[in-house]
Amino acid sequence: MKLVDTHCHLDNEKFNEDREELIEKIENELEFCVNIGYDLESSKKTVGYTKKYKKIYGAIGIHPVDITGYSDELEKELEELAKNEKIVAIGEIGLDYHWMTEPKDVQKDGFRRQINLAEKLNLPIVVHSRDAMEDTIEILKEFPNIKGIIHCYPGSTESAEILIKNFYLGIGGTLTFKNSKKLVNVVKNIPLERLVIETDCPYLTPEPFRGKRNEPLYVKYVAEKIAEIKEISIEEVIEVTTENARKVYGIR
Ligand code: NI
Repeated sequence: MKLVDTHCHLDNEKFNEDREELIEKIENELEFCVNIGYDLESSKKTVGYTKKYKKIYGAIGIHPVDITGYSDELEKELEELAKNEKIVAIGEIGLDYHWMTEPKDVQKDGFRRQINLAEKLNLPIVVHSRDAMEDTIEILKEFPNIKGIIHCYPGSTESAEILIKNFYLGIGGTLTFKNSKKLVNVVKNIPLERLVIETDCPYLTPEPFRGKRNEPLYVKYVAEKIAEIKEISIEEVIEVTTENARKVYGIR
């Protein structure tokens, strides 16, 4: 069994030079990966990749930083895109109080509307939450049936314990950073059965490549770090997190 990258952005221009090569590596060395949309254009590109490449699945949605202009028409387009066979989630959606391109209320509205869309389509969600954990949890409580992933989990162990009832925590390259004490503590205390591995590439590159471009195959370094923290074998990390990724995205 191989690893999964549950969150990548292969449409990013940083991959323009060698995207095909990279995808060939994914086809050979990963179980699969999920390309995550953040606006309409990237969502359309994501659908294109899922049609063209066997091991690429996708999520489509509007990121809180790109929520300006969210409308009924846009939502209809998203709904149509989400009906493609290999679109397995709505995301990334959520709240970002760090890059406030819109006030909190506008972000919350866009978040709620897209959770409703996910419920309607019976899909999980991929949640982006930055400096907004309290409000994120409040909104998710309004939707007791929705499931998904809290991507690049940024919160405390206490918040994690609340969230893992319905959500998996996406763990990425930040786990390998020197100042990652809080996240190390989360990984130590939360069962492996509730963790999935991601890169968020081209961002958040793990050690030993921190500062360079991130790529899907670097999930390996995150998996190694999880094994080290939990004092278990890398094989167990691969087996359990890959099964988790299949479950949450409904990929068999
Ligand atoms: Ni992302």
